[in-house]
Amino acid sequence: MQTNAHSSIKNRLFNIRDLPTIPAIHSRILKIMEDINYSVDDVSKHIEKDQVLSSKVLKLVNSPFYGLYSDVATVRRAVILLGSNLIRGIILSTSLFDVADKTLPGLWDHSYCCSTVAGFLAKRFNLITIEEIMTGALLHDIGKVLIKKQLPEESRKIDEAVKSNGITGLDAERMVIDITHDDVGLWLAETWNLPGIIRDIIAYHHKPGMCSGHARETAIVHLSDIIVQGIGIFYNGDPFVCPLDDAGWNILSLSESDLVDIIVEVMDIIQADKTFFRYIYGGKDGK
Ligand SMILES: [Fe+2]
Ligand SMILES: [Fe+2]
Repeated sequence: MQTNAHSSIKNRLFNIRDLPTIPAIHSRILKIMEDINYSVDDVSKHIEKDQVLSSKVLKLVNSPFYGLYSDVATVRRAVILLGSNLIRGIILSTSLFDVADKTLPGLWDHSYCCSTVAGFLAKRFNLITIEEIMTGALLHDIGKVLIKKQLPEESRKIDEAVKSNGITGLDAERMVIDITHDDVGLWLAETWNLPGIIRDIIAYHHKPGMCSGHARETAIVHLSDIIVQGIGIFYNGDPFVCPLDDAGWNILSLSESDLVDIIVEVMDIIQADKTFFRYIYGGKDGK
């Protein structure tokens, strides 16, 4: 049975009137993309009007981790190559992460990096759902943004609990508000009508073994999340890495030496390819 405190937290979190608004230009693009026969020219034209969005789209398509394409210079070409789910993911995460930029620094970079590592792993596993996996990875922690925005007081207590009890953010959320960012993220994904595979990735990214739908894709994002956090390139606000889910690990059928190879490969790409940091930070001119 739910306590009053728990349902009040839920009401405050999921009060639709207080949801961060999506800028008009972003809503317009999402609306156009609701039609499966949307015009690429139309979508590209609108993305080009938004400098931040254009640069994120171009950065993602040119990521050395993604590695499929290089020197994609036009938004139009990026829209074709990335596909509609990933473009929608970039728009939604840009809208929400903009809200969170000051309160959750590093979460955007963490998510972006996680998305590119997940794309790299999806290719390694020869999965055709690479676009959805990358989108899910981009949005996997989106619930954190809503918690931060809607529950500022509790968020402070969550941060304190992490520090004073030495527990992960996930455990601290459970302790303080009795709901975790994966559940909150799922609710957002449902509100936005995202496809089932992306909902599964968001909902089960910390427990892929419990996912009855797209378990493999979810396990890939789970592993990418841990790798990105584990190698510590971007701080997502959580000083402790969540544990590897045993059942999720088994889904991937990797040996320990496979994992070492993967981590070495990820590190090699980061170290050898200076374009990676230029990709993340946008070179001299910043983002
Ligand atoms: Fe998470
Ligand atoms: Fe994460």
